[in-house]
Amino acid sequence: MPGMVPVLCGPLIESLFSDPVITLAATPEMWSGTLLPEEEGCLSPRAVPKRRREFTAGRVCARTALLRLGVRDFPIVAGPDRAPVWPPGVVGSLSHCGDYCGVALARRGAIAGVGLDVERARPLQGRVVEIICTEAERRKLDALPDLSSGLWAMIVFSAKESTYKCYHPLMKTFLDFHDVEIDLTPEDSSFTARVLKARGTDGGPAAPGIRTLRGRFAWNNAYVFAGVTLTAPELPDAG
Ligand SMILES: CC(C)(COP(=O)(O)OP(=O)(O)OC[C@H]1O[C@@H](n2cnc3c(N)ncnc32)[C@H](O)[C@@H]1OP(=O)(O)O)[C@@H](O)C(=O)NCCC(=O)NCCS
Repeated sequence: MPGMVPVLCGPLIESLFSDPVITLAATPEMWSGTLLPEEEGCLSPRAVPKRRREFTAGRVCARTALLRLGVRDFPIVAGPDRAPVWPPGVVGSLSHCGDYCGVALARRGAIAGVGLDVERARPLQGRVVEIICTEAERRKLDALPDLSSGLWAMIVFSAKESTYKCYHPLMKTFLDFHDVEIDLTPEDSSFTARVLKARGTDGGPAAPGIRTLRGRFAWNNAYVFAGVTLTAPELPDAG
């Protein structure tokens, strides 16, 4: 959008992950950067300017972050499930929302997967909360202190989106909002995501595989952030 000034929020995204996961928030120039030809091919010719800008910010930001892993000019195409196809040996996740875009990346090894999500910091209300949160989650949210319960629900939403972004590239199965339960720990801004069930590509039940994922959340006046890190020992067939 002309005149829009992208925000950086660097420290918030950094607080979601620990070494060796690296994070980067897109700078204003990245939103109008240049796509590699293979990336351009992933964008519909009919893409509206907003979609072109956010897709470009994600790709340029991710390629810039990849330089820190020693990877240069690797085109980040979109897979059939829309998930970014990272260079061999790299796991990552990206998110854009409004005027914010960020990425989280790591070498595959100790880290098996990451998920990043950013949402506008607006309270969720009524029926939407019921769609996102299970009854058990709603009961827990009502008991949480010092924040409108609608914003806690948005944090749960973001935690679920970040969980899905870590989970789906590894398991290739789908999760509905009530398939996952989030336990927030406000004291240290962390959460646990418990995968209760999963769906296969035919919509039928599938083995969840990964049962538990751990993450952190953060927020400011504008955005809610959630990040999940899955370590190699947490993979179902590990150890
Ligand atoms: C895929 C999804 C999580 C994206 O989240 P979003 O809040 O709409 O948008 P974000 O900007 O945060 O993320 C979009 C980016 O996620 C990445 N992404 C898309 N599909 C993905 C997938 N299947 N796995 C991992 N990452 C994916 C892409 O990089 C995409 O950006 P790009 O198209 O510019 O490359 C969401 O659209 C979706 O499909 N949700 C349904 C599944 C779900 O969340 N279930 C709840 C489980 S508990």
